[in-house]
Amino acid sequence: MLSTACWTASPVFAQEPSPPKAWSGCASCHSLKPGENKAGPSLHGVVGRQAGSLEGFNFSPAMRDSGITWDDASLDAFLTNPRKHIPGNRMFFGGVSSEAQRKELIGFLKAHN
Ligand code: HEC
Repeated sequence: MLSTACWTASPVFAQEPSPPKAWSGCASCHSLKPGENKAGPSLHGVVGRQAGSLEGFNFSPAMRDSGITWDDASLDAFLTNPRKHIPGNRMFFGGVSSEAQRKELIGFLKAHN
């Protein structure tokens, strides 16, 4: 019962094509709705955004000072190994080792920009 209610109340997934498999590893911490921050910042509009710049989310200094603007290349590098790419950031996630899955994820993020 509860899970049915959750899905119905989730307009993003009700109307969009289903997200790539690897997104399930992100969705517990990230929403695609503008302004909805969970453990991680909303990823709505993240492509083209300066890292750590979203208002209302308490980023680590490492993320804020990284000087990165998110695009295909920087997202791909970050998602391969978040800790190595931005040492000291607070995203506790091991990375997506499959290049194909990273590509799918980045395409998915772009579709929600
Ligand atoms: C355990 C929770 C968690 C998981 C799982 C997670 N993230 Fe994050 N993510 C965070 C946190 C926390 C931050 C902010 C880190 C900081 O400020 O150092 C972040 C930051 C980011 C950023 C930078 C956002 C910005 O505005 O600069 C991107 C992009 C991102 N995550 C993508 C992903 C993707 C894609 C996945 C799945 C492959 C994922 N994350 C999985 C918690 C998580």
